[in-house]
Amino acid sequence: MKKICLANQKGGCGKTTTAISLSSCLANQGKKVLLIDLDPQGHSGLGFGVKPEQVEDSIYEVLMGRIPMNAAVRMLKENLYTVSSNVVLSAFEQLMAGLPEREYKLTQALAHLDDNFDYVIIDCPPSLGLLTFNALMAADEIIIPVDSSSFSLNGLDKLLETVKLIEEKAGHWLPYKILATNIDRRTKFSKRVVEKLQTQFGESCFETTINTCTRIREAASDGKPIDAYDRHCTAFRDYQNLTRKIMEEEIKIHEKVFAGVFDLKDGEGQTQPTESEVVFTFRAPGHTPVQIAGSFNSWTPEPLSYTEFQGNPVWKMAIQLKPGTYQYKYLVDGRWIHDPQNKDTIDDFLGGVNSVVNV
Ligand SMILES: Nc1ncnc2c1ncn2[C@@H]1O[C@H](COP(=O)(O)OP(=O)(O)OP(=O)(O)O)[C@@H](O)[C@H]1O
Ligand SMILES: [Mg+2]
Repeated sequence: MKKICLANQKGGCGKTTTAISLSSCLANQGKKVLLIDLDPQGHSGLGFGVKPEQVEDSIYEVLMGRIPMNAAVRMLKENLYTVSSNVVLSAFEQLMAGLPEREYKLTQALAHLDDNFDYVIIDCPPSLGLLTFNALMAADEIIIPVDSSSFSLNGLDKLLETVKLIEEKAGHWLPYKILATNIDRRTKFSKRVVEKLQTQFGESCFETTINTCTRIREAASDGKPIDAYDRHCTAFRDYQNLTRKIMEEEIKIHEKVFAGVFDLKDGEGQTQPTESEVVFTFRAPGHTPVQIAGSFNSWTPEPLSYTEFQGNPVWKMAIQLKPGTYQYKYLVDGRWIHDPQNKDTIDDFLGGVNSVVNV
């Protein structure tokens, strides 16, 4: 299950449009998708014709711990599900003020979700408040839509600072990717914006851009995602390209992790990996200490060693294990975290989950 959040405190830069279009296109590709609306404006739902005032079991009830996430999930179409939002959610920040773990409410709710979604797409509100913070803590990666009219490196700096803070203080490694949206290719200004973003952010900026397309606005006011409204317009083509990129990226990451295991073996000059050796990896920057503890070492935290694989920071440890089922967790900068790359988890009876590995 890959969790992607759409965030930018700038209003109107294409977060919701991207959340809707990407979710719908991923579902068309046979991926099972959950779209979570974390914006009290309820625009993600509106984009599918769901009126915020008609939403009963919303993300607000879930975050407040009144109902489990599963109870709020509703189907939009084949492979596509949503948890909607409405204006009541705007009370969340105030009600949570000063309470412990308030920034982990979404993470905790997702840990108890029936784990058969391929993607969770989270649409954030236009602020860097507690709701967006919850999304950042829960997400595996963040897409930052930047439109040419609202282009402001100051705003972007603030968001990237927050991402860095989350990595350093909470040990939650959060890769980001900039997406240029609402780009009018006919204007020199728009072109310059795209060039500047791609030069400045390199691989952290999608080559795919989303062009300005009037059909997007029409589709939104008709309560339909772009693929259901017009499959011949530029926006549909652009969002299809983005969907393809994101699905390719997923394959690359799997290949990297797999290749990483064999690199390690080659480096040690060993022959074939034995069935009982398991390589645990955790992606986090080098200055964030990572330890592992599990049923295989009496839950005594042991440090992983830091390495870089194809330019990505990785903490690694190979452990010899006899056949069986083991539970484990990482201790990242003093905080217990289950393995974000392993979808097999089990209740830890402390309000969270442990990761599970079968040997
Ligand atoms: N590629 C596009 N071409 C034309 N219009 C677009 C495009 N992308 C978004 N829009 C329009 O721009 C407006 C803002 O887009 P959207 O709601 O996706 O932004 P947002 O970042 O979610 O806004 P908010 O910060 O208020 O949540 C909407 O009216 C939407 O229809
Ligand atoms: Mg929005």
